[in-house]
Amino acid sequence: MKNNKVALVTGGTGGIGSAICERLYKDGFTLVANYRDFDKAMKWREEAKKWREDQLKMGIDVKIIEGDISDFKSAQRMITEIEAEIGTIQVLINNAGITRDTPLYKMSPDQWYDVINTNLNSVFICSRLVIEGMIAKGWGRIVSISSVNGQKGQFGQTNYATAKAGMVGFTKSLALETAKKGITVNTVSPGYIGTSMVMAIREDIRNKIIEQVPMGRLGKPSEIADAIGYLVSESASYITGSDISVNGGLYMSR
Ligand code: CAA
Repeated sequence: MKNNKVALVTGGTGGIGSAICERLYKDGFTLVANYRDFDKAMKWREEAKKWREDQLKMGIDVKIIEGDISDFKSAQRMITEIEAEIGTIQVLINNAGITRDTPLYKMSPDQWYDVINTNLNSVFICSRLVIEGMIAKGWGRIVSISSVNGQKGQFGQTNYATAKAGMVGFTKSLALETAKKGITVNTVSPGYIGTSMVMAIREDIRNKIIEQVPMGRLGKPSEIADAIGYLVSESASYITGSDISVNGGLYMSR
């Protein structure tokens, strides 16, 4: 059954993003998926349109909107447009993320800043832009997709692990600020999920990683989406400042 709440999923047309959109749509939210026009080429726009059509064929109606969530002005334009045309965003899923894996001794400033801007500064930007609307409504949910590698570290990921660990401190602090305002703020930390991001790891390295997963397999995007579906539901209204690990046992934190 439809509820009257708007949910924005950043990077919503990607591997995990698509599964989150599908799950939240089925749970009754009005869904908006953000994508980024990386190089101002039509390619990304065309791909996003095609993605929307494919979702519609499966009975999932997700609006798509372009915006660079690592840039305050671009994100502000996007969020203003969503709120004017569709409604106040009451669920924000900070899902957009990239990797630029390389050992620190070879890492360029661009490889550092691209990851920190897209994966971490975007969390500040999007949360900042929706928080006042959520406070005014007296109900909100923010879930940021962190990572097992923000918890345990990973060879070649000083940039990525920093961004993913940073989200956790942000989440706990914002959870304190909003605890009395009907807003919960949490993270989900996926392990290795079968998406193009993980499939881009060199095959022999990827196979070694999978061998280390106690469940012996990659996770499914739907297994992340299910945790998010729960966190944004009324059933999870007493959970804030928490992290849920969904990693097949790869790392167990308290
Ligand atoms: N631990 C220790 N040593 C390692 C290592 C590891 N995990 N991985 C590589 N090495 C060693 C190699 O054995 C090699 O040693 P020798 O020089 O003695 O032969 C050396 O490091 C290779 O160093 P290079 O500088 O040549 O590294 P590279 O440029 O060839 O490769 C890398 C570096 C691209 C980061 C590669 O190691 C890699 O792909 N690692 C996996 C990174 C990873 O897991 N990324 C996750 C992406 S998905 C994601 O991030 C989603 C999520 O949230 C989980």
